[in-house]
Amino acid sequence: MIATLLTITLFLLAYSAYLFTRRRFSYWEKKNVPHLPPKTIFGNYAKYILLQETLGENTRKICAAFPDEPLVGAYFGTEPSLIVQDPELIRLVTTKDFYYFSGREVSNHSEDEPIIRNLFSAYGDKWKALRQNLSPIFSSSKMKNMFPLIRKCCFLFEDMLNRDLEKSSVLDVRTTMARFTMDCIGSCSFGFETQTMEKTENNIFKTMGDLIVAPSAIVALKNIFRTIWPSIFYGMGFKLFPTVIENFFKKLLTDVFESRNYQPTNRSDFIDYMLKLKKNNLVGSGLKGLKSDEIPKVTVEIDDEFLIAQCALFFGAGYETSSTTLTWTLFELAKHPEKQEKAFEEVDAYLRRHGNKLGYECTAEMAYLDACVDESMRLYSAAGVLHRESSEEYVFPSGLKIDKALRVHLPLYQLHYNPDYFPEPKKYRPERFYGEERRNIKPYTYMPFGEGPRICIGMRFARMQMTAGLITVLKKYRVELAPDMKREVGFDPKSQITQPTPSIRLKFVEREGWESRVFAK
Ligand code: HEM
Repeated sequence: MIATLLTITLFLLAYSAYLFTRRRFSYWEKKNVPHLPPKTIFGNYAKYILLQETLGENTRKICAAFPDEPLVGAYFGTEPSLIVQDPELIRLVTTKDFYYFSGREVSNHSEDEPIIRNLFSAYGDKWKALRQNLSPIFSSSKMKNMFPLIRKCCFLFEDMLNRDLEKSSVLDVRTTMARFTMDCIGSCSFGFETQTMEKTENNIFKTMGDLIVAPSAIVALKNIFRTIWPSIFYGMGFKLFPTVIENFFKKLLTDVFESRNYQPTNRSDFIDYMLKLKKNNLVGSGLKGLKSDEIPKVTVEIDDEFLIAQCALFFGAGYETSSTTLTWTLFELAKHPEKQEKAFEEVDAYLRRHGNKLGYECTAEMAYLDACVDESMRLYSAAGVLHRESSEEYVFPSGLKIDKALRVHLPLYQLHYNPDYFPEPKKYRPERFYGEERRNIKPYTYMPFGEGPRICIGMRFARMQMTAGLITVLKKYRVELAPDMKREVGFDPKSQITQPTPSIRLKFVEREGWESRVFAK
């Protein structure tokens, strides 16, 4: 009897899901937008939802079915989404008509957890006011003031590499780089020495970092569930981040604020800037100013919770993206010794010019090294897709009218691997981004840090720590693939950002004459 009831219930549930999705799946048909036939519940993203592919790869395959269509319809699970693959239309979405696309998906739920009440999730007027007030934290003059903290981390990084490589010449690169970038962001963001380079066992920062970004099937599934069906997700009492993370940052930051008497110091870290902001409530202008002469004033109340959410965001966004980008860059340099040789020349010349003193000017003087990073971000950009959401009805120049709150996806992998924009797209060629050749890159086809007003706010910081980190490695070591390391690796579908699987292991070999390139302290 129970078995029969259960079977009937399951059958009814499955049938209702089928009917519901059938109705949902007529959206693009009615709008006459090209799309692939969707599957019940999974739409066109079965491989992504079942953790078999990353979002970037899954989206790229959808685009590949319509290479010449500027706009492609898709079903993200049961929800319609629009993929914009034409650079001119991407310009409209990210920049020119930003007023209509200020949100970044499921905006309605951006306040449902205290820890995500941050710049990344905010939208509309609140986002604008936050961005206006937080942008100065990342200005080049602020970065310059912060550079001594990064330099200090590089000294520790130099020592850590010496120590670790005494034990084995082969390292898991992402873990190594993450210890460096976590210390940089910890020091610059919280005024804290995380000691991730001295102490890995029982290191609370490492534990929290892993909880936020390390690849995990549960975290990935929760993230997918929340992005596709946010109302059900929060309705069932789920949260993206466990309370332990919230409590950790709360305690950490309250201690730091108290130790500074809630007054800015001369340390020039993010906390100082935040404490300066805290003195007055945050005031900015609203988005309406983009559309009319009326510029509404927006006030955002600043309390500890606000500060904690922003600092936790900078921590989460700040270390993993950079350490993974460094990992991919070293991987490609190991595979291409001739490119690595050119990078050595630039690093050595820089150190000779500056008497081995690592200074902020390195961010402007390492054009080839920058190109090596840019090319690795083309091949392995941290985000496979950029997300936007329409805040009002919007009409594309073709006449296609989209509804409010429609998901809009910008397919980074599709663009970065498009042979029309990047000939021989699978080839690692930093020269694409070097000197005059850089001018050949068509606008809105290369966006590893995003585009338009919502472009990554931490880009300068990321570049600063990555350049300093690469100089620290390459001045002493040549990297080679470890004996068992393959030349091609996949992307881990359990990770929020593009992570290699299996992990990248490289051999670090001391370069001749390294003794003459030890940092001047
Ligand atoms: C290699 C390193 C990094 C990469 C590849 C990267 C990439 C990105 C991308 C693709 C976006 C979305 C942009 C868009 O939607 O148009 C973004 C946003 C953001 N990133 Fe980064 N990021 C990096 C480092 C950092 C660092 C170091 C920080 C902070 C210290 C940071 C903080 C943020 C924040 C707060 C946003 C949201 C900005 C907004 O919505 O206004 N990122 N990043």
